[in-house]
Amino acid sequence: MIIGGTVRVPGDKSLTHRALLLGALTPGVSHIGGALTSLDARSSARVLRQLGAEVSALRSEALVVIRGRKRFRRPEHRLDCGNSGTTTRLVLGLLAAHRFAATLTGDASLRRRPMRRVTVPLGAMGARFTELAGRDGLPLEVRGAPLAPLRYELPVSSAQIKSALLFAGLAGGVSVSLREPHGRSRDHTERLLRAFGYRVDERDGWVEFAPTGRLEPFSMQVPGDPSSAAFIVGAAVLAQRGEVRIAGVGLNPTRTGFLDVLRRMGAQPVVDNVETRYGEPVGDLVVGPAALRGTEVGAGEIPGLIDEIPMLAVLASRAAGTTTFRQVGELRVKESDRLGLIAANLRTVGARAEVVGDDLHVEGGDEPSRGRVRTAGDHRLAMAFAVLGTLPGARVSVDDMACAAVSFPDFRATLRSIRRRAG
Ligand code: S3P
Repeated sequence: MIIGGTVRVPGDKSLTHRALLLGALTPGVSHIGGALTSLDARSSARVLRQLGAEVSALRSEALVVIRGRKRFRRPEHRLDCGNSGTTTRLVLGLLAAHRFAATLTGDASLRRRPMRRVTVPLGAMGARFTELAGRDGLPLEVRGAPLAPLRYELPVSSAQIKSALLFAGLAGGVSVSLREPHGRSRDHTERLLRAFGYRVDERDGWVEFAPTGRLEPFSMQVPGDPSSAAFIVGAAVLAQRGEVRIAGVGLNPTRTGFLDVLRRMGAQPVVDNVETRYGEPVGDLVVGPAALRGTEVGAGEIPGLIDEIPMLAVLASRAAGTTTFRQVGELRVKESDRLGLIAANLRTVGARAEVVGDDLHVEGGDEPSRGRVRTAGDHRLAMAFAVLGTLPGARVSVDDMACAAVSFPDFRATLRSIRRRAG
């Protein structure tokens, strides 16, 4: 297709969850502009209301107003986290320091996702957990307690684990030191805590938090989500002619690994108008078509592009040569078995892809893509393969496009809006 225009993408999912959680635990009134209003963000808002915070309705373009409280109150019902792993794990961190019992649950996909990665270290701090299904997953009861400080090496690099433990330190008023095994996951929580005067130092690979600050009512503006922008970037790279500007995107360096990989693959995304807002770099992405070549994505790069692998793998299937993503086993425990489904769906549409151990290999080609993609309700798979369907001659159908609403409710309209002509 021929592309053009300037678009915006929805507010950053990670920052929206964190801003909602921090606002809910801040006595007084806080305001969040540009917040994501998707299903996942609504899951956080719903759970926080059950815990006693007042959170205005999440509507696109509307400012979110939160009246928080110093301590949460015991919820009367189960906390339904929907499809959102971030809501679940970060809320578990906060509840670990609250002296009451609460039960968290979610949809079928979320109930299957591992929680011991947070309950084991939170348990070491003093919280108690009961796995109500008798296995690692939801529903889960958490019973908070006075917490002890923690020094802990994470089994996998994960911002959700890291943030759950930092939030436990915050709510429990104790120090927390953490180390990630390889590669740095997104550091939004560290940046936000610093903005409230907490000490968060990075030393010899350790993140060291000290409960020195205080939450105060805040106003913040959430930038566009780079992980949502990645799908529009993908469509622009696969286009025949033109150029698209995605305005106001978060460009935190722990989130932009996909741009580095795209550059190695031969694309030339340009970053423009960068400024720092609320401790996070924000700017425009300008991108157009490119002839792609395969590359190797190393294990250390994975945490910085974990959510962009579906889109990058789809792009790799249109590149010259082979692309290898090293050590991407984490994708098995995302909203779906994303690793297995990326490879299976690429094969379904006629590409060559295989998983060897924890590595994903994708061989590029230029045959028209044809086939029906199975998403298992995973928003990022739906959007990545929908982008593949924009290629001339492609006939790609996606079994569930509605799941895009988990993170990018207007995905289809945004994708349509950059299209100038079929090409
Ligand atoms: C997120 C962290 C990532 C990412 C998820 C959001 C966050 O998960 O996949 O979409 O907001 O902290 P992991 O840190 O568990 O890899």
